[in-house]
Amino acid sequence: MEIIKVKDSDELGKKAAEIVAAKIKEQNESILGLATGSTPEKMYANLIEDYNAGDLSFSNTTTFNLDEYAGLASDHPNSYRYYMDHNLFNHIDIEKQKTYIPNGTANDLEAECTHFEELIKQTGTIDLQLIGLGLNGHIGFNEPGTSFDERTHVVRLKQSTRAVNARFFPSLNDVPKLALTMGIATILEAKQILFLVQGEHKADILKKVVHGDVTEDVPASVLQTHPNVILLTDIDI
Ligand code: F6R
Repeated sequence: MEIIKVKDSDELGKKAAEIVAAKIKEQNESILGLATGSTPEKMYANLIEDYNAGDLSFSNTTTFNLDEYAGLASDHPNSYRYYMDHNLFNHIDIEKQKTYIPNGTANDLEAECTHFEELIKQTGTIDLQLIGLGLNGHIGFNEPGTSFDERTHVVRLKQSTRAVNARFFPSLNDVPKLALTMGIATILEAKQILFLVQGEHKADILKKVVHGDVTEDVPASVLQTHPNVILLTDIDI
């Protein structure tokens, strides 16, 4: 794992955007894996700036998001589709039909997961996958205890994850109990992973992820086994 230390969230957003932009420029038809949450917000803002400055085009880019809440429609302000549209897609020249996010309102969620996996396979290998870190060590919505062999699947969110994410919802009760997530086996197939971890509150879990045992109790620890991971963080580890 290559570790790049940054001084704060601004520098993290800038550096992460530079890495993503370089990938898009280097590879004509790139496939990106994207994440939501607080951590990548500044990175997306920087990518929009690059696009507005005429330095970057997403017209040949395809994206696959890691996860989505079950039961939230695309126009629900807490759905990850809404997040992606508002934080990135609506502001750049990407073709919306090439931005894939699991459909949280599908009638058959299991079938939707299988369909999402098939879409990735048909499109090719993800060139660069962004990953954030949950306080309990989750990546995507792969909660502690998830098998490293899982592919895209339906997950029951841990109470702790729902509590952390409640900050985006009117109340804890409004946070969905189920979600769809790319599995760890799917994530590990990406050619390169950009792992973004920001804030002292994540110091203890990040130390376990980087220096601890590789264990399903700490899902992100599996990143130690991937040959091409860049960790961008403002934490001393
Ligand atoms: C979001 C995702 C989650 C977040 C993680 C950290 O698509 O996959 O695993 O990356 O929960 O979230 P923030 O960045 O809000 O601390």
